[in-house]
Amino acid sequence: MTQATAIIVGASSLLSQEIAKQLAKQDVELVLLAQDPDSISEFAQSLPTKVRVQGLQIDQPAAIIATLETLWQQLDSVHLVLVNTGLNSYDATLPWQPEADIITVNVQGFSAICNTAFRLFTEQGYGQLAAINSIAGLRGGPSVAYHASKAYASNYLEGLSMHAQRLKLPITITDLQLGLLDKAALQRSRLWLSPPDEVARQVIKAMQSAKRKAYITKRWRLVAWLTKLLPEFIYNTRHWRTKAQRLAEKSANNAANGNQDKSQ
Ligand SMILES: NC(=O)c1ccc[n+]([C@@H]2O[C@H](COP(=O)([O-])OP(=O)(O)OC[C@H]3O[C@@H](n4cnc5c(N)ncnc54)[C@H](OP(=O)(O)O)[C@@H]3O)[C@@H](O)[C@H]2O)c1
Repeated sequence: MTQATAIIVGASSLLSQEIAKQLAKQDVELVLLAQDPDSISEFAQSLPTKVRVQGLQIDQPAAIIATLETLWQQLDSVHLVLVNTGLNSYDATLPWQPEADIITVNVQGFSAICNTAFRLFTEQGYGQLAAINSIAGLRGGPSVAYHASKAYASNYLEGLSMHAQRLKLPITITDLQLGLLDKAALQRSRLWLSPPDEVARQVIKAMQSAKRKAYITKRWRLVAWLTKLLPEFIYNTRHWRTKAQRLAEKSANNAANGNQDKSQ
């Protein structure tokens, strides 16, 4: 039996590394792509499978296309390309540069990877393209470009899936919708929900079950359903400032009102 081969794009992230560990245990040959390959070489060496590490600059579409094409020529076949890249930031004053960076990585870079992988899978005749996405794409949100980019990613993947069906090729497209607070779990914050190894386990299970779309962890399916249902006048009332910011603002207002009372 031939050994399965998976390419993981964005291999420096903690979730990617958990997925890599679990796939390595299943004897999957891995290609790990990261912005700074040196930063993950020690991790790669610790994996109990054949691994190669390579650099990939997501903000340069021509380089993405060339890198994936070269890899394809070097490998016997590729069974899975998992895209786990992304940029997010929040600044209430909405400066342009962070928005432009998010669009470059999450829209342009994402499309270049998915488009190239899909074309190469088409030539190969089979394969699976999976992407770690976010339920943030279900509605607009405070990190404006980020939320919009996640909606774009979902639609892009759905379009590719339609193409695969029309071509009548066994190419699976899997949209892995992570819940918002799983970031807290990955950073081991107090808002702990699911440990990274459980998130990785559910990601792998969804890919191996050839799911078109999966909510990770499963509880986020309910949140996604509610998020879609909420009318805008309720959805809009969510607080976009942190609790600390709200409290600081409240005490500043109280102080200002107190000063006003004294002066009357
Ligand atoms: N973490 C969560 O709780 C959470 C929740 C919902 C959805 N998601 C989704 O998960 C995905 C990963 O996001 P994350 O929040 O988990 O972030 P992350 O851990 O920081 O991973 C982002 C990855 O993208 C790579 N990347 C960013 N800019 C790049 C560039 N210009 N060139 C090459 N690589 C670049 C990063 O590489 P470097 O480390 O080298 O910069 C890193 O490997 C995103 O699609 C996000 O929407 C995550």
